[in-house]
Amino acid sequence: MAKEKKSGSKKPEVKQSVTNSGIYTDEVMDHFMHPHNLGEIKDADAVGEAGNPVCGDIVYLYLKVKDNKIKDIKFKTLGCAAAIATSSMVTDIAKGKTIEEALKITNNEVAEELGGLPSIKMHCSVLAQQALKNAIEDYYKKHLK
Ligand code: FES
Repeated sequence: MAKEKKSGSKKPEVKQSVTNSGIYTDEVMDHFMHPHNLGEIKDADAVGEAGNPVCGDIVYLYLKVKDNKIKDIKFKTLGCAAAIATSSMVTDIAKGKTIEEALKITNNEVAEELGGLPSIKMHCSVLAQQALKNAIEDYYKKHLK
């Protein structure tokens, strides 16, 4: 027999909502709310890290490489909406590229793919790109001796 719910004892429903303050494009908000390639690769071939000492935000980026191509890429970002969105986008752009092609990805390219970032948030896009670059340098150090 199903239990009857007492209307008075029901916990209030907590609704989470994040609204766009108007400074971000829909693409930025989408990648912030639903980041792609989020997480960690336990047996990564290389790891890159980049941080901003001013705001304290930090990006970790993990690579799996096969035949000189980025087969898998994941990130963990402790940071602002722009840092998370650009981390998500940089992983989308880099996935499937050769190491050399991935090295050429710029933070401006990442921001453009997101439909732009407010000028005061452009520095946030540097973190993800720098973490990718550092991961590739780590890959070179470990695998191309
Ligand atoms: S405010 Fe720190 S990366 Fe955006």
